[in-house]
Amino acid sequence: MKQKISQITKEVDSFQPKSLEEITVFRLKYLTKNGLLNALFNDFKNVSETEKKEVGQAINNLKIKIKEKISAFSEIKKQIKTPTNFDLSKPTKKNNLGSRHPLSLVESEIVRVFSSIGFNISEGPEIEDDWHNFTALNTPKEHPARDMQDTFFIQTDPDILLRSHTSSVQVRHMQNNQPPIRIISPGRVYRNEAISARAHCLFHQVEGLYIDTNVTFADLKQTLLFFAKELFGEKSKIRLRPSYFPFTEPSAEVDVSCNICSGKGCPVCKHTGYLEVLGCGMIDPNVLDNCGIDSKIYAGYAFGMGIERIAMLKYRVNDLRLFYENDVRFLNQFCSEI
Ligand code: PHE
Repeated sequence: MKQKISQITKEVDSFQPKSLEEITVFRLKYLTKNGLLNALFNDFKNVSETEKKEVGQAINNLKIKIKEKISAFSEIKKQIKTPTNFDLSKPTKKNNLGSRHPLSLVESEIVRVFSSIGFNISEGPEIEDDWHNFTALNTPKEHPARDMQDTFFIQTDPDILLRSHTSSVQVRHMQNNQPPIRIISPGRVYRNEAISARAHCLFHQVEGLYIDTNVTFADLKQTLLFFAKELFGEKSKIRLRPSYFPFTEPSAEVDVSCNICSGKGCPVCKHTGYLEVLGCGMIDPNVLDNCGIDSKIYAGYAFGMGIERIAMLKYRVNDLRLFYENDVRFLNQFCSEI
């Protein structure tokens, strides 16, 4: 009996399973009702009283060994998990890619156009002080033009506000740099407007600034025409209407020929053939002087546009709120634009 046990133990010890089949045969051989282990337990009846303790222990140890072999193998199997029907030529499952937000797409497009003609990006804080947002820009306290931009002031400190345009970045840039200056400042701005299909309390702008000697209105016009053609197509035309901004003189509102009806007139352009896209003008000499640039030597132009407005025109979106609701059915439509 003892000899039989030690022989089986040797067999078990030297067994090295290589496949699932081998381990199954092994399990059936030892552990089933008719297996070798049960046979040993049956023979146990005939063992003499003096040997019972020793033999019983040996059979139990053997049982533990067998079970350990089986569980060690399934552990290894779990780690390796070799797929049996593995086909390298099979096409993979398509990954669901996210899309860039339409406002980011339009912003990068605007940045691309102006970068191509030498404008650099300049950024600044969204929480501003009154001077950078208004006073430096020829809009001192009590100036009626402040009403054009309903501003969020911080209640405990009326000198601090959420910037109402990124012109504040231009002020910061002029303070720290001397001409020639050629920058655009994209970013988020805030105005205390009731939220509707056409207005929001936060939106995005790209503003541009160009300062050098002998800069004229003709430079501004040509730059904006180039921009319109790049963004809305080669056939685009622009139209300038006199306007007013405290920081530019003269000032103008720029319309681009409607890219939906090609200028013939449609509901989007309200049958005028033109769409209003940006404000611009020659920088008021007071602004240059306020920011440490000599207005007797230098001149410059500035312009500013709302990214939402351009995105609405480009993608024919008729409700600005869609840009902020993060509805994937809306956002998915921009996947192909990446
Ligand atoms: N800052 C103006 C606005 O937010 C836009 C603008 C910029 C107009 C520069 C003229 C020149 O409305």
